[in-house]
Order: sequence, then C-alpha cells, then structure tokens
Amino acid sequence: MYNDIVMDHFQHPRNGGEITDADAVVEVGSPECGDTTKIYLTIRDNRIEDVKFQTLGCAAAIASSSMATEMIKGKTLEEAWKLTNRQVSDALGGLPEKKLHCSVLAEGAIREAINQYRKNMGLEPWTE
Ligand code: FES
Repeated sequence: MYNDIVMDHFQHPRNGGEITDADAVVEVGSPECGDTTKIYLTIRDNRIEDVKFQTLGCAAAIASSSMATEMIKGKTLEEAWKLTNRQVSDALGGLPEKKLHCSVLAEGAIREAINQYRKNMGLEPWTE
C-alpha cells in the first residue's frame, strides 16, 4: 500500500521527539480519525532553526510529519507557511488517495505552530 519513501520515513522518522525550550508547541487532531500530531518549533531570525514532532497516528501520518519537518527546517516562516500537504505527499512519492487526509495533520500543525509563535510575538495570526 505504501511506497519505499513512505516506508523509510515511517520506519526511520526524521525529527521525531520534543524540544524542551521550543518557541511554539501545538497539537492538532484529525477530524477524520482522531489521530494527533504535536509540533515543536525553535525560531531564530524568522527562520525555523529546529523542528520536532510527535505523531500518534498511522504510517502515512508519521511519514508525512517526518517529511514535512525536513522540508521546513531552515526555511523562513513565510516559506514554511506555504507548505501544503500535497507538496508533502508528492515529496513522499505519493500517498494512497484515502490516506491523503493523514498528511493534512502535519500541514495544519505547522501552520498552527507558526501562528502560536506570531501570537507570542504580539503579531496578528496569518489566515491564508
Ligand atoms: Fe489517522 Fe492516518 S488514519 S492520520
């Protein structure tokens, strides 16, 4: 059901774990299945210096979190905000159609974490 890239990220997730002194921490749940992803961000000079995740979910959700965190590390907040679950799925070589919703978790968690940071800084949250 899953290709080799997805299986690799599922079995050897990049950036798994937590950051104890993170600048933003959020947890989001999937309305479809109830699985959750927690994202930790460390931000310096408007860039994502470090990112870690903890995902309680299926293989597609874990692989998506792993790939998404790889894709935003070192990026500006503006660049990270633009990351879509479709780009994550493409980078993984594609997810089965019925598993696409699992990659939405990582996208949503990253965006919420960015907005939590913006709020902490007294800035308006981004909407689109
Ligand atoms: Fe819940 Fe994939 S089935 S995240």
